[in-house]
Amino acid sequence: MSSASSPVNTAPVNIAVVGLGYVGCVTAACLAHLGNHVFGVDRDAHKVRNVLDGQAPFFEPGLAEIIRATVAAGSLRATTSLPEAIAEAHIALICVGTPSQKNGNLDLDQLRRVVGEIAESLPSRHKPLIVAIRSTVFPGTCEEVVIPALGPSTPVVSNPEFLREGVAVLDFIEPSLVVVGGEDRAAVDRVASLYEPLKVPPCLVSLRTAEMIKYACNAFHAVKIAFANEIGALSARLGIGPSEVMSTLCADVKLNASAAYLKPGFAFGGSCLPKDLRGLVYRASRLDVRLPMLESVLPSNNEQLSRAIEAVMDLPAQRIACIGLAFKENTDDLRESPVVSLLEQLIGKGRDVRVFDPHIQLDAIYGSNKNYILATIPHIGRLMESDLGRLLSWADYVVLGQKQRDAIARQIENSGLPVLDLVGTGRTTVSVPAQKA
Ligand SMILES: NC(=O)c1ccc[n+]([C@@H]2O[C@H](COP(=O)([O-])OP(=O)(O)OC[C@H]3O[C@@H](n4cnc5c(N)ncnc54)[C@H](O)[C@@H]3O)[C@@H](O)[C@H]2O)c1
Repeated sequence: MSSASSPVNTAPVNIAVVGLGYVGCVTAACLAHLGNHVFGVDRDAHKVRNVLDGQAPFFEPGLAEIIRATVAAGSLRATTSLPEAIAEAHIALICVGTPSQKNGNLDLDQLRRVVGEIAESLPSRHKPLIVAIRSTVFPGTCEEVVIPALGPSTPVVSNPEFLREGVAVLDFIEPSLVVVGGEDRAAVDRVASLYEPLKVPPCLVSLRTAEMIKYACNAFHAVKIAFANEIGALSARLGIGPSEVMSTLCADVKLNASAAYLKPGFAFGGSCLPKDLRGLVYRASRLDVRLPMLESVLPSNNEQLSRAIEAVMDLPAQRIACIGLAFKENTDDLRESPVVSLLEQLIGKGRDVRVFDPHIQLDAIYGSNKNYILATIPHIGRLMESDLGRLLSWADYVVLGQKQRDAIARQIENSGLPVLDLVGTGRTTVSVPAQKA
């Protein structure tokens, strides 16, 4: 970004940026560059002095130039006084630190103090203030810490920051993601409009989703790195070039580097994923290559199955229609189907359950799957119902163990039965594990 280019935001907003650390300083300078009137505030007089002198308080490529230009133009100011910074502000962006405590919990002292100070200054204000939390905070923090301190007349939004140190200015100007969350739509729109010049459509979400997404993103990045390193370590041990393996993996932008497999749903199964993961982990252990993340994937999958079992067990013990038996939709493959494991648990615990799968009709299937049902899981074969309508008139609850084509989904919906959706189709009408407190 060139610091000499002219501002592009047509409606300047008065913004107080609280905390002039890595996030706050970059945010303050870039928002000033976009044409807003920004007042940065930090309790650290040294950082404030740096900004006033047109310098960056730390090294970040491109930041010093923007600070110099915006301070010279009068669009960026700095102070150690929070009341002074927010006096004329329409929006206060809170960018203070939220460091880790020893047990991993967040230390919210800085946030609490700032919010407390803002609350004290509210009675003497003449214009409304929107408080936007840019610091990383655990879901629920705005509702439990910020809103109670500020009171109901100050809208609070969550506007998490995704910049990476070292390319922070570039990441601000060309963001990978803009998220604004809150329940006050006007406040959310106002904060989102700050990013309009950046031409990245903002994701407008609930307050808690905005808080959560930051954790989801960082966890995902960490998991990606650990995955690449574990595959790399095993590849290297096998004399295979780690980079070639991973760059080839990334060449698949349909299933690998894509949104595929990133929807929360039921446990995975089938003839490939469990078998190949087991094989990979086993062979790595024989080579003395420890792969803690890959080793944890099957246990994690079992945990998802356990949550599903628990959710079904929580239904009042009446007649349960399970829709889908194969490990996923549009197949009759029963190998390692999590639905089979689920049904076995339910039968073992005495639940009255029957199952329908559009692709597994005992009188019509033949070959290996029929043999599998008759020889390996005859106890489940006995529960199969070939007529969905008959099953639905018998049942009190529907458990969706598979995504279903529209006609079946409609038939289930028309039955009026409560649905426990294990696969994330959004058709749930009774609580699923993820929604439990
Ligand atoms: N650094 C990153 O790359 C990054 C990226 C995304 C999100 N975040 C999150 O953003 C938040 C800020 O991170 P950071 O790296 O900028 O932290 P930081 O420690 O560099 O900056 C925090 C600033 O807040 C100031 N401050 C604390 N209490 C204050 C008060 N009462 N009044 C005024 N100023 C006060 C501190 O003096 C400090 O300058 C954290 O929640 C962090 O997790 C950081």
